Amino acid sequence: MSEIVNYYNDLASTYDQDRFDNSYGRFIDYQERRILDKLLTDKKEQILDLACGTGRLLNYASIGVDASPEMIEIARKKFPEKKFLEGEADRIILENNSIDTIISFHFFMHLDQKNMNLILEESHRILKNNGRIIFDIPSRKRRNLLGFKKENWHGAYSLDFDAIKENSTFKIKRTFGLLFFPIHRFPKFCRKFLIKFDTFLANSFLKEYSSYLIIELEKR
Ligand SMILES: C[S@@+](CC[C@H](N)C(=O)[O-])C[C@H]1O[C@@H](n2cnc3c(N)ncnc32)[C@H](O)[C@@H]1O
Repeated sequence: MSEIVNYYNDLASTYDQDRFDNSYGRFIDYQERRILDKLLTDKKEQILDLACGTGRLLNYASIGVDASPEMIEIARKKFPEKKFLEGEADRIILENNSIDTIISFHFFMHLDQKNMNLILEESHRILKNNGRIIFDIPSRKRRNLLGFKKENWHGAYSLDFDAIKENSTFKIKRTFGLLFFPIHRFPKFCRKFLIKFDTFLANSFLKEYSSYLIIELEKR
């Protein structure tokens, strides 16, 4: 099992609290849901949550895939009615052309170009024609501007739109930015106003300088 999966196995019991029960996590979760609500409007779609973890976003999907048995165990308790596939994201036990949309959050940022490409290939295989994959990734342009230095694998990978366009099997359909300012560090009373301003800037011509990019790719 990979170092990453071991890490999440150990973290599983405290993941939800540790990552999302604080003002930063709540803001990210709120913004991701705002975008997913916009993109996932067809209730008849077959949606798969890739690297579903403890099932934070599984309300949007009917199938969860994850390589960590401990993370899946928690997700299964929250969503006993969903289907779970425990295994690697580059070897999903599903038929060709069987899924309408894949969502994958807080996952690709922990990988590298080679592994991400393998997973995109596998996603392409299981997606129906014109199927979509929607994912988040840290912004490479912002990181270059701020002189980001990676310490280990955790959240170390980033992309920009040009690098994503190089993938010839998917085309970019829609893009969003997320978290322009470190809103969670501002006093609570001004956050409401700042969220609106942040959302505006993160989706303006400065989009690629947001902390995270949310990308919707369509299968060619
Ligand atoms: C940061 S968590 C994200 C969980 C969830 N998507 C979320 O947004 O809260 C990353 C997840 O990726 C899973 N993972 C890591 N490598 C994987 C792989 N090769 N195949 C499938 N899942 C993997 C881990 O087990 C972990 O549950």
